Amino acid sequence: MADYILAIDQGTTSSRAILFDSDATAAHSAQQEFPQHFPQDGWVEHDPEDIWQSVIDCCHQVINQLGDGEQIAAIGITNQRETTLVWDKLTGKTIYPAIVWQDRRTSDYCQQLKDRGLEERINDITGLLIDPYFSATKLRWILEQVPGARARAERGELAFGTVDSYLLWRLSGGREHRTDASNASRTMLFNIHSQQWDEELLELFDIPAALLPEVMDCADQFGVSDAAVLGRQVPILGMAGDQQAALFGQTCFNKGMAKSTYGTGCFMIVNTGDCALKSKNRLLTTVAYRLRGEVTYALEGSIFVAGATIQWLRDGLMLIDNAMESEPLAEQTDPDHGVYMVPAFTGLGAPYWDPNARGAIFGLCRDTGIKEIVTAGLQSVCYQSKDLQKAMESDGERPIALRVDGGMVANNWVMQFLADILGATVDRPTIIETTALGAAYLAGLEAGIFTSLEQLEQKWQCQQRFEPQMSKSRRDAFYAGWQQAIRRVQSE
Ligand code: G3P
Repeated sequence: MADYILAIDQGTTSSRAILFDSDATAAHSAQQEFPQHFPQDGWVEHDPEDIWQSVIDCCHQVINQLGDGEQIAAIGITNQRETTLVWDKLTGKTIYPAIVWQDRRTSDYCQQLKDRGLEERINDITGLLIDPYFSATKLRWILEQVPGARARAERGELAFGTVDSYLLWRLSGGREHRTDASNASRTMLFNIHSQQWDEELLELFDIPAALLPEVMDCADQFGVSDAAVLGRQVPILGMAGDQQAALFGQTCFNKGMAKSTYGTGCFMIVNTGDCALKSKNRLLTTVAYRLRGEVTYALEGSIFVAGATIQWLRDGLMLIDNAMESEPLAEQTDPDHGVYMVPAFTGLGAPYWDPNARGAIFGLCRDTGIKEIVTAGLQSVCYQSKDLQKAMESDGERPIALRVDGGMVANNWVMQFLADILGATVDRPTIIETTALGAAYLAGLEAGIFTSLEQLEQKWQCQQRFEPQMSKSRRDAFYAGWQQAIRRVQSE
């Protein structure tokens, strides 16, 4: 007899389900990629049914591996954040595809908001900067563009949610319309100080309050899965946006502890304790997690394209057959190849926030080949991390060591170059699927399987530490080349 926690990690390019046992060891896992849709330049959409089907398929795959008498005690959900869905409360049908966090269609409207001088006020309330990245302008776009949507929203017929809410709604058989404070803090409608949906912002974006989910703690009683959906009723007890879940999974519970996750994008987050530290360097102030009503805040640097660069090298340019090939290629590349790739496919995130920038490759010469371009793609992820580290440092937050996770950190060459460029220690834990682990920890805490943060802290183990080996002058020279490349892609 064993009790497991089912962690659902719904990411930008794939969904996964992992069954963790009570020692927090991953016993069974399943993963499924799903299609991305790019209907226009800068637009990114997902079919909500693809999201749902991939999640449910993964859940069934792991559930089928349970032995006789083995039970699932709790479910934790973690998800790509900001991605915006609106559905009919009666039928459960979405009224438009999911508008993905990377989508830039509201750039012009965001610019108008900035021109009206609203950035400071919005930043004070939400900790965010005006950018199409966040849910508010996407939700407003759906209400404006889908015929009849606004009237239906005002009549209380529709529900808005980020992916967490949508999954909870469906898992619970349409019973629960809830989210957690970490996901709410990414909508640009949530007051991170009062921990309430903000009336002033609802009015500004013209969002009827009836659309909004109830905001819960990250470890809380979110609902129970419908027997018709998972074949069993299991309490849903944990929820957090994927980056906050990764911070939790990395057990960065103390002020000053930082993690960086290399998934589709890259998100560097430092725990700032009970202080909602306001950045002077265009980083975001966000809710790290909320437990028993107590909020822990974080400073976050968000990069839109990290692992997606490698996906593009593989599927777009077809330079490699799989991501693993990039490591030996980088090892064979002359370190002084001089090529810089800026993967601003969907604009630039922190600290530039330039939705109109687009990607470029610089420094090509006659003998530039596949390996130089692939290496430049890998390096772009490290340079972008350096941008974030510098911004955090100027905000007075210099993490001593950085805990890393996400698929890309399996690449030793990238990890060493990251340590070199940051001039800082990089720690890779034994479990690099920390996002799902974070969701499992949250659900496990609520279920009583785990009893304290201290207990969780003891589970973190360093698998490999990467120390910087590059001289400062060389690091500065490499980084200067990157800064020059960045200047050349910026829109103004
Ligand atoms: O803010 C977007 C982020 O949550 C997406 O994460 O892991 O899907 O790249 P990921």
